[in-house]
Amino acid sequence: MTLAAALGVSLRSFNSASSFPFIHCSALFTRQITMDAKSVASQLKSSGLLRTQGLIGGKWTDAYDGKTIEVRNPATGEVIADVSCMGQKETNDAISSAYNAYNSWSKLTATERSKSLRKWYDLLVAHKEELGQLITLEQGKPLKEALGEISYGAGFLEFFSEEAKRIYGDIIPPALADRRLFVLKQPVGVVGAITPWNFPLAMITRKVGPALACGCTVVIKPSELTPLTALAAAELSLQAGIPPGVVNVVMGNAPDIGNALLASPQVRKITFTGSTAVGKKLMAGAAGTVKKVSLELGGNAPCIVFDDADVDVAVKGALAAKFRNTGQTCVCANRILVQEGIYEKFANAFSKAVQNLQVGDGFSDGVAQGPLINEAAVQKVESFIQDATSKGAKVILGGRRHSLGMTFYEPTVISDVNNDMLISREEVFGPVAPLLRFKTEEDAIRIANDTTAGLAAYIFTNNIQRSWRVSEALEYGLVGVNEGLISTEVAPFGGVKQSGLGREGSKYGMDEYLEIKYVCLGNMNSS
Ligand code: SIN
Repeated sequence: MTLAAALGVSLRSFNSASSFPFIHCSALFTRQITMDAKSVASQLKSSGLLRTQGLIGGKWTDAYDGKTIEVRNPATGEVIADVSCMGQKETNDAISSAYNAYNSWSKLTATERSKSLRKWYDLLVAHKEELGQLITLEQGKPLKEALGEISYGAGFLEFFSEEAKRIYGDIIPPALADRRLFVLKQPVGVVGAITPWNFPLAMITRKVGPALACGCTVVIKPSELTPLTALAAAELSLQAGIPPGVVNVVMGNAPDIGNALLASPQVRKITFTGSTAVGKKLMAGAAGTVKKVSLELGGNAPCIVFDDADVDVAVKGALAAKFRNTGQTCVCANRILVQEGIYEKFANAFSKAVQNLQVGDGFSDGVAQGPLINEAAVQKVESFIQDATSKGAKVILGGRRHSLGMTFYEPTVISDVNNDMLISREEVFGPVAPLLRFKTEEDAIRIANDTTAGLAAYIFTNNIQRSWRVSEALEYGLVGVNEGLISTEVAPFGGVKQSGLGREGSKYGMDEYLEIKYVCLGNMNSS
């Protein structure tokens, strides 16, 4: 039986080179919307979580010139809310509020800060359903995944509420007998946190959790595409008793806000998740006042499937690594490298699994793939596929806009990809899985490392020695072995090469918000 027959879907043509059927996906897609976006928005409004103003010094504040921007539901194009469109002036006031609040927040005991963070965590968990709906509404990811993001995001607050109590210094044996040497760890000061649209909550808590735990105060600039979750989380920070000015949120004109954060000598740290291009600009801009920077930038994750892999495990792992958030994460598998002995078997099983992914509005039952964030994202996907096919790659599944319209795109698998194609050089950030064939372990490592990025990599093998050997050889900050979903608050997340600087999550995530101070007590032998 052909794959298409097994799947019971319409067959358009066969790719003779690979013998994979070319499949049109619509048959399995769902249109049934189980939740009405409008009623979700009105429920959020009545619960007080649908905030549209910025938060400065504990006060909900309009843009000073009254300007607003629209936030749209990417699944329908409908406007969900008009939010304040802020710029330099509002950002400077938010920085002053954070600076003033720093004095008292940093002097609280670790236990006091820990308790506030824990309360904030409890409130996020208590409002999990509404917050999950809000993420689906403004970002588009399926509700189940959005609820998963609330647990993941809240987990950073829980973890760092505990770490707050473990900011230990050191005592150093002195080189001179009359001295006593100490190392203190102190908060860096005011932090500017610039966060992306793909994880509207988790990328905030992953930065703000450790910042607050260390005694820093923050000015958050969420993405203009998804500010509502950030504002809801900020509202809950106030309800948790976190003092006014400790958490501030400004959104709107990104360059103006970014430049104000960079220019201010009161901001001592910039933490950013987003594109490598913007990360480089922020790094250069931070040089003017010599700020500390943490950057979580783009990836180009290889997912390497060796001949000795368990195919079912590899398919499940590659599917999760590729199609999480409709392919819109920095750790999504961008290149699936498959060893020649298992290539056909893996490609068939993988295509079959991809074929089963339901596309639709994130509020519909059973949907696994939501819309892309905007039209520009779809055009990027199209141009990458066009480049690959013009150079010899073959579309074996999907490969076009979805019949649902808007920014929905068919989950796509393309074969015969090589490492010179655009799709292998840059992040596709969409539901497209390119398959690359390789011969030896050395080839796989060479191809995997042949990129300027170095965030996440995945290996599928049943050989324990190989798993260790390849993990060591990969120039990446994170490696998943026989697993496609590896992000967690308890482990360090971050890249090497042009994927960024610093680590988030885990005990290492605390170091990014701490300065080390050496104290020397002299003349200690006199009585
Ligand atoms: C990201 O895409 O930047 C974050 C992904 C994750 O936390 O797993």
